[in-house]
Amino acid sequence: MTATRSRIIGVGSYLPEKILTNADMADIVDTSDDWIFQRTGIRQRHIAADSEMTSDLALSAARNALDAAGISGSELDLIVLATATPDQTFPATAVRVQSGLGMTRGMAYDVQAVCSGFVYALTLADNHIRLGQSRRALVIGAETFSRILDWDDRSTCVLFGDGAGAVVLAAETGFGTYDDFGILTTHLHSDGRYHDMLYVDGGPSSTGTAGKLRMQGREVFKHAVSKMSEVIDEALATTGFSPEEINWVVPHQANRRIIEATAKKLGIPMSRVVISVDRHANTSAASIPLALAEGVGDGRIRKGDLVLLEAMGGGFTWASALIRW
Ligand code: UT7
Repeated sequence: MTATRSRIIGVGSYLPEKILTNADMADIVDTSDDWIFQRTGIRQRHIAADSEMTSDLALSAARNALDAAGISGSELDLIVLATATPDQTFPATAVRVQSGLGMTRGMAYDVQAVCSGFVYALTLADNHIRLGQSRRALVIGAETFSRILDWDDRSTCVLFGDGAGAVVLAAETGFGTYDDFGILTTHLHSDGRYHDMLYVDGGPSSTGTAGKLRMQGREVFKHAVSKMSEVIDEALATTGFSPEEINWVVPHQANRRIIEATAKKLGIPMSRVVISVDRHANTSAASIPLALAEGVGDGRIRKGDLVLLEAMGGGFTWASALIRW
């Protein structure tokens, strides 16, 4: 029996020009390169220019992904954009990207699952393709977290950065085995009881302002490792693959210690994990496609590789996706 599946045919990313190093952060709050690097693995982060909005970052990443795929924006019929920092309350940042790409048909909408947003968006686009509602989709993770940081709070402002990444999906029909190319399985979860552990203290219906990010870091850390391990196990149990068969893990890049602890639990060496947190910091929904763009761009991720995406973020939300590249 044949089945329709989504295949990633292009990856692209964009980082704002301005870089703040840990030494620069020490000029802003009472911190040090040593503290930040030891606790998180972060050395620097990119910060959007005043004139740059989330849609600008998204559009640049989208253009790069479309170039890599060799198709134009007008050939798309779907955009799903993951962000917790939209340009405006409405309309969706995705429709700005749609218009910027010259795409006048199909649909474009935003998804809000914070750091798990990219895997959520990828899953939704994949579902549209499997249902026959889309043939060519663009999935974007784009954030300007610098706009919602409390720059007086050293426990959070040193952790985040701005950026965007995107992938182009194409519908392909094949036999649908786990050896065929494409997105093999996706798993999404949320638990709103943890709402107050990582949130923004504002919004259109509460304070009428955008608000600032608040986090109980230690609690988030504790849950991150266990929830990501669970959702990885789910992907492996569904497909029957063992950890040894995974060629590359592309995790959400929040903290190198979380990534290492999760890889250790899984029994995967760090040499098979794509790391970008040192240069990008935590870019929320953008972190996975940014890391993916690096892994594909420098030739580490190759055709036929089994690639595992995993994420955890505010909500809490957590998610995984297993892809045959
Ligand atoms: O994308 C998902 C969302 N986020 C995450 O996954 C983040 C999860 N959490 C973490 O990564 C870690 O909890 C942090 C990196 C945020 C913090 O590391 P920690 O080892 O849990 O430190 P802590 O919050 O317990 O703070 C330890 C000390 C405190 O001082 P005292 O009370 O021990 O004297 C803090 O005041 O470090 C102090 N501290 C800092 N010192 C220098 C907090 N932030 C800083 C800082 N520079 N930037």
